[in-house]
Amino acid sequence: MSQNILVLPGDGIGPEIVAEAVKVLNALQADYGLDIELTEGAIGGAGYDAAGHPYPDTTKELARKADAILLGAVGGYEYDKLPRELRPERGLLAIRSDLDLFSNLRPAILTEELADASSLKPEIVAGLDIMIVRELTGGIYFGKPRGIRTLDNGEREGYNTLVYRESEVERIARSAFEIAMKRDKRVCSVDKANVLEVSELWREVVESVADDYPQVELSHMYVDNAAMQLVKEPKQFDVIVTKNMFGDILSDAAAMLTGSIGMLPSASLNAKGVGMYEPIHGSAPDIAGQGIANPLATIMSVSMMLRYSLDQAELAAKVDAAVKSVLQQGLRTADIFVEGFEQVGTATMGDAVVAALKG
Ligand code: IPM
Ligand code: MG
Repeated sequence: MSQNILVLPGDGIGPEIVAEAVKVLNALQADYGLDIELTEGAIGGAGYDAAGHPYPDTTKELARKADAILLGAVGGYEYDKLPRELRPERGLLAIRSDLDLFSNLRPAILTEELADASSLKPEIVAGLDIMIVRELTGGIYFGKPRGIRTLDNGEREGYNTLVYRESEVERIARSAFEIAMKRDKRVCSVDKANVLEVSELWREVVESVADDYPQVELSHMYVDNAAMQLVKEPKQFDVIVTKNMFGDILSDAAAMLTGSIGMLPSASLNAKGVGMYEPIHGSAPDIAGQGIANPLATIMSVSMMLRYSLDQAELAAKVDAAVKSVLQQGLRTADIFVEGFEQVGTATMGDAVVAALKG
C-alpha cells in the first residue's frame, strides 16, 4: 500500500526548497519504486492566506491521515502584525502539538567536504557527528499561564510558564537513550538545575531512565556551559537531550558548526513513528524568491523521513550519498560558498542531487 506524504511548503523560501526535495521524492518513486502518494497543504502564513488560520482545519485533517509530513518553513514580515494566535509560528507549534511530535531529532554532522565552510577551525569540527534530541511539545513553548497583562500600576508584564511533567521528561529521555544505543552510547542531558526546579526534576527523571540503559554513559551539563562547550570542543558530544527552548537555541549553534544553518535537517516523531521532517532553518524572508536558498537541509530531511517513517534505510543512504556527491563535485549554494567552488542556485543544487541519485 502506498504511503501518504503530506507536503507543507509554508512561507518564504519554504516553497523553493520543498520543490527540490519533492524532485528527490519523485526520482525515488520513478527509479527505485518508492511507493508514496504526495498531497499538498497550507501552513503558517500560507495557511492564513488560504483559510484565515496558520493551521487550517483542512491541513489538520490531511496531517492526521499522513504517514509522514515534509515541511519547508513558516514566517514572514507581512504576518508580524497579526494577532499572536494567527501568526505563522503558531501554526508550526499547533501541528507539532496536534500530532504529539514530542521527539525532535536534530543531527549536526560535518561532512568533510564542508570543513572549510565552518567558521570554526577545521580540526575542531572535522568529523563532527552530534544528535540533539529536543523536547518539542512541552516546556515554556506551551506552558500555561502565558500572556501579556497590565498590572495595577498600569505597567504591562509579559509572562510564560516553564513546566514539565515527569511523563514528558521520561519519554524524551527514553528517545535519547534509544538513539544513543545505536550510536556511541553517550547521552548528555542539558539543563539549568542550578537555578530551575523544573530542571531539578528533569535531572532526576533522566537519571531514573538511565537505569534501564546501563550501557549508555549519562552526563549532565548546565545549558550555559553546553553553549560554550559546543563551540569550544563540539566533538565531545554524542547525543544531547534537552528541553524545548534550550534545544531550539543549541541546535542553531550546532548548525553553524557544520558550516551553515542551511545544512541541518530534522525529524519530529511521535510515539507511533509518524514524523514531520523539516530543515531547522527558518523561512529566510530576506532571500525568498531569489532562487539562492540552500535546499540540502530539506533534502536531507527527506532522507530522515525515509529512515524514520518509511522504513527505507537503503534509500536514505542513497540520498545521503547523492548529497555528498554534489558537494564533492564542488557545488555550493551562497551560504556554504567559499572561493574555489562553484556557486549555484536552489534549483541547480536540487537537480544535481537528483542527477547523482540516478548516477
Ligand atoms: C525551530 C524554529 C521554531 C521553533 C520557530 C519558527 C517557531 O526556530 O524549529 O527551531 O522555535 O521551534
Ligand atoms: Mg529554531
